[in-house]
Amino acid sequence: MQQWWRDAVLYQVYPRSFADSDGDGVGDLPGITARMDHIRDLGADGIWLTPFHPSPWADGGYDVADFRDVDPLLGNLDDFDALVGSAHERGLRVVIDIVPNHTSEAHPWFRAALAAGPGSPERDRYVFRDGRGTNGDLPPSNWRSTFGGPAWTRVPDGQWYLHFFAPEQPDLNWNDPGVRDEFRDILRFWSRRGVDGFRIDVAYGLVKDLDDPLRDLVLVDGGRNEDIAANPDHPLMDRPGVHEVYRDWRRVLAEFDPPPTTVGEVWLPAERRIRYTRPDELDQTFNFDFLLTPWDADAYRRVIDASIADAAAVGTVPTWVTNNHDLVRRVSLLGLPPGTDLRAWLLADGRDPLPDLDLGARRARALALLALALPGSAYLYQGEELGLPEVADLPPDALEDPRWRRSGHTDKGRDGARVPLPWTPDGPSYGFGEGGSWLPQPEGWGRWSVEAQQGDPDSTLSLYRRALARRGDFAAEPALAWDPDLNRGAVLAFWRGPEALVLVNTGPDPVDLPRGEVMVASTGLDRALPGDGAVWLRRPRA
Ligand code: NOJ
Repeated sequence: MQQWWRDAVLYQVYPRSFADSDGDGVGDLPGITARMDHIRDLGADGIWLTPFHPSPWADGGYDVADFRDVDPLLGNLDDFDALVGSAHERGLRVVIDIVPNHTSEAHPWFRAALAAGPGSPERDRYVFRDGRGTNGDLPPSNWRSTFGGPAWTRVPDGQWYLHFFAPEQPDLNWNDPGVRDEFRDILRFWSRRGVDGFRIDVAYGLVKDLDDPLRDLVLVDGGRNEDIAANPDHPLMDRPGVHEVYRDWRRVLAEFDPPPTTVGEVWLPAERRIRYTRPDELDQTFNFDFLLTPWDADAYRRVIDASIADAAAVGTVPTWVTNNHDLVRRVSLLGLPPGTDLRAWLLADGRDPLPDLDLGARRARALALLALALPGSAYLYQGEELGLPEVADLPPDALEDPRWRRSGHTDKGRDGARVPLPWTPDGPSYGFGEGGSWLPQPEGWGRWSVEAQQGDPDSTLSLYRRALARRGDFAAEPALAWDPDLNRGAVLAFWRGPEALVLVNTGPDPVDLPRGEVMVASTGLDRALPGDGAVWLRRPRA
């Protein structure tokens, strides 16, 4: 039997920002259940839920205090079961996040580690070390946290603990057998509750080279760790030993029928990333190379060919990702003038230059038709089906992302992609809930609402619905064939099966449109495919 995930479209739900059932301003699990028809009507095959576990929310829930429960703000385990039941009734799969690299500082294990003191088995579940310098008052190594600042924090008895992310997220020690047992058990716990898969946070982390003396990293840009891509022997990431964890997890998941699927977050160059999807490891990894490809036909041709070949070499399929909760929304990114230094843009307070949102929206619609036409599975992020732009001007006192705090208030972080969804053109929090919303929604947010778009055949929501409905015509076809005549210059042109021709025009000028039945188009067509437009045509392949 074909594994369901091989051509699936997964819709990423960021629970705090999807729908709020109790008016407290925070989205919750009953809110998701109540809005499940939106995901079914969109035509997705399933949802990926980012963390909903008990958490102090120091990093959007990626600081988990109890891996086997639901945060009371978001509901309880009965609500989770109801959500899974409602998804399954509609034929939707449920993938949940698992966060094995670190816990919250509020996790009982970390509290026990602090209480038990140096040298204890409780501390050995984490990475505690004495400091350098005469009184140990310098961190044990120069490693930096990805959110800024040192990767070590000192505790009152003088030891330091490692946190690759925020200080509220102490790293676990994967050399400790108890840590390994715990995660086997967590996988079983949720698999028994009926989940269909796991998205693995920082899947290339976990195992670290912690042999003394700890190896300092080269620091770049005045205080960031060197890029992992530049260091094949990085002490913190992509250690050879991490692969054994996934071989072990595959055996655990094989206890279930069918075994839940796995998709790893692996920010590595493709040749290192694909090792995580060897046949006895994970099923998939997110294809961030595609996500970071600039709006350029040649660049897309290269990344598409490479992604397909890389995945095939290890017996899996590529994933096509165009948005997620960690990146500026695509509509805004694609609207920036060519050559904009993205990092500098992200760091700048006023986000200067402002993106051309009309241009970005046209390109984002075309990109959706590209991503959804490619062989493999696609991951959508809530709100992209509405064409939501990044909210770049959130008031500073509303920002929650630890990157804002840890960067000394220079990096606004990721909250602009996490603003609660608009469901209605107006009303309290635009239909998100009966109360406010934990991040302020900008004025006029309702113009992108589901209600405002659903009757409009030209809306982005209607485009996504049509595309997902028609994708079924060819999704099971394993291959893509570039058209020898049409695929050139700014135009991507490829066939999916004997009858579906996909055209994407990344240039500014219109190009001739071959004859055929228009299955779906990102833009109006007048015998030409306009610049920054895409179309799926049905016509016999010569
Ligand atoms: C990746 C998640 O997507 C991100 O949101 C989080 O901050 C880090 N991992 C740390 O868990």
